[in-house]
Amino acid sequence: MEQYVIKGGLPLVGEVEIGGAKNAALAILAAAIMTDETVTIDNLPNVRDTNVLLDAIAGIGAKVDRVDSHTVKINGSYIDCLCVDYESMKKIRASYYLLGALLGKYKQAEVALPGGCNIGSRPMDLHIKGFKALGAKVEIKGGAVSAKAEHLEGTHIYLDKVSVGATINILMAAAMADGKTTIENAAKEPHVVDVANFLNSMGANIRGAGTDVIRITGVEKLHKAEYSIIPDQIEAGTFMFAAAATHGDVLVKNVIPKHLEATTAKLLEAGCRIEEFDDAVHVVAQGSLENTQVTTLPYPGFPTDMQPQMAVVLGIAHGTSTVTESIFENRFKYVDELTRMGADIKVESNIAIINGVQQYTGARVSAPDLRAGAALVIAGLAAEGITVIDDIHFIERGYEEFPAKLREIGAQIEKVATEKEIQKFTLKVS
Ligand code: UD1
Repeated sequence: MEQYVIKGGLPLVGEVEIGGAKNAALAILAAAIMTDETVTIDNLPNVRDTNVLLDAIAGIGAKVDRVDSHTVKINGSYIDCLCVDYESMKKIRASYYLLGALLGKYKQAEVALPGGCNIGSRPMDLHIKGFKALGAKVEIKGGAVSAKAEHLEGTHIYLDKVSVGATINILMAAAMADGKTTIENAAKEPHVVDVANFLNSMGANIRGAGTDVIRITGVEKLHKAEYSIIPDQIEAGTFMFAAAATHGDVLVKNVIPKHLEATTAKLLEAGCRIEEFDDAVHVVAQGSLENTQVTTLPYPGFPTDMQPQMAVVLGIAHGTSTVTESIFENRFKYVDELTRMGADIKVESNIAIINGVQQYTGARVSAPDLRAGAALVIAGLAAEGITVIDDIHFIERGYEEFPAKLREIGAQIEKVATEKEIQKFTLKVS
């Protein structure tokens, strides 16, 4: 079982380069199969989730050619199976984007239902509502959703709840439907815009992505494209919070500062100094950290994927802070782990009440999920002493070369596989 071992207490200082957005990549890789021509995707993050999805895409017969670690060519003309099995779905929920992509292109698809996940229940009712509205017959049978249509017909869809997944899935199917579709109360996340831009570069006609009304005029065919994925706002935010928690000074490069506004606003309230450049943000956290209140909301609100990392910063800020989670019901699993590192946090319903402590102390903890795992890394970097993090496979789902990037800005962190390696690291840093 691999682990991260961290010797904390040093400020992070220097420059870090952010990779492509994992969540945009997952939808874009699925959408790439919608043409029979070859699509080249660049700035692809080389993380477990994208690699698992590429395997699922190859598994349905598409040709997947990895040009280098951040570039892939996909050709969907070889697809010979319109179903995605439970094994792929279990490994990565975002395989459900293949439902919208296959339904749009072939008017037929079946994917296993994903079931719950570590951050809470993840229903697909809105995705299904959208496919039905487009004229597909949707059935849930044997643990799978199957959707089929003679042809898809453009329509008006109102999403009762803002959902990134449903917006993107419906967008993909509607891109190849007959006539015009309007999605109201659509998600406005940067990766929704990136998927729409990608589909447009393949010949789709999508307007309004990034607002809450998206208008799609269906086209019969999509064509080849070359596309570069946007920078990962969550990876960027994670490094910004790591800089804050360690009282560091970090230039986070290759970002779109506009996508980071909610994160920046909260770090300013917490007492950090932030400078924005065209494609970089500079975080300086030399003074004391201050308490604040945070509520997660759909974009442009504060991202739920950044909530655990923010809580780690507030855990060592002056005074009492609150963090309210309004998107997923089970996103405070890291609190017990953080408590083992000395945090003083109480969770009441969907609110974490955080009484700042002076400093965390190193401990052995487990990553409960991807972002909570990243948050524990930040806590380890800020802590006095040695922290060992188990279950790092969750973290590797979404962070490329995390220890190496952190070491470049002065962190003492290693990936280890044995107790002996932990001891070796401890001796080296003591
Ligand atoms: C995406 C992101 C995830 C992020 C989340 C919220 C990807 C691969 N994942 O997840 O990292 O945390 O957005 O920004 O991009 N809901 C329903 N019915 C549905 C669909 C969703 O009730 O059919 C609810 C969910 O339970 C949740 C809320 O809507 O409470 C938002 O979920 P959604 O935006 O769909 O999240 P994902 O797309 O799964």
